[in-house]
Amino acid sequence: MLEVTDICSSYGEAKVLDRVSIRVGQGEIVALLGRNGMGKTSLVRSIMSLGSPSVTSGSVILDGVNLSAMRSHQVANQGIGYVPQGRRLFQSLTVLEHLQMLERKTPGAWSVRRVFDAFPRLEERKHHRGNQLSGGERQMLAIGRSLMTGPKIILMDEPTEGLAPVAVENVESILGTLRGEGLGILLVEQNLYSAMAVADRVYILETGRVVWEGLPEALMADQNTLHRYLGIH
Ligand SMILES: Nc1ncnc2c1ncn2[C@@H]1O[C@H](COP(=O)(O)OP(=O)(O)OP(=O)(O)O)[C@@H](O)[C@H]1O
Ligand SMILES: [Mg+2]
Repeated sequence: MLEVTDICSSYGEAKVLDRVSIRVGQGEIVALLGRNGMGKTSLVRSIMSLGSPSVTSGSVILDGVNLSAMRSHQVANQGIGYVPQGRRLFQSLTVLEHLQMLERKTPGAWSVRRVFDAFPRLEERKHHRGNQLSGGERQMLAIGRSLMTGPKIILMDEPTEGLAPVAVENVESILGTLRGEGLGILLVEQNLYSAMAVADRVYILETGRVVWEGLPEALMADQNTLHRYLGIH
């Protein structure tokens, strides 16, 4: 279980997160919603200890281990996977090379074979380079890469951004499969309906604060919150 408690973060002098607390359990998909610029990516980056924004107070605890003072590679080794916004890949590396560079022999780590079994499409494209993949294939590769370290929790920053409906459904079904294997997923989404299709619980961020948390059904029935924080009529 990931427990983020009272995180405050800043870009230089500019405060971006104000005492944010969230929890993600095993086998749970938790959606993080909020309009552009509200702090979703900043929260995910803060949990990963990427350095920018800098975390000024609060704690990040995974299964009782305090990750707050760790560097990002240590956070990853403790069991947090990360799929960055924008599907960053190496243009000149093939699918296979992208995965092989992360292969480890540590317990719980995924092999390239296991990733290909989970994403047959990636195996078909294994000799294609990063710049020769479709948006949906890039997203599968980014998710596959995040699994290589054998995470307990994965932070996914807008995995369906820019994808066609059929590719969105594919990502949704991948998330369902990972949940079934006991992974916890923090899912940053702009697409409310996609998030509601898979989420077990929801948080909404507004200018760096959690302003709403609850069940998807409760959110969908709450016209006022949908309108006020997500701009939906
Ligand atoms: N590197 C940075 N330096 C300074 N300010 C930043 C930096 N990155 C983001 N910000 C600011 O921090 C705030 C939160 O940005 P963040 O990227 O976390 O938003 P977001 O909720 O992920 O938005 P989106 O949905 O557009 O991805 C915004 O006001 C943004 O302009
Ligand atoms: Mg973002």
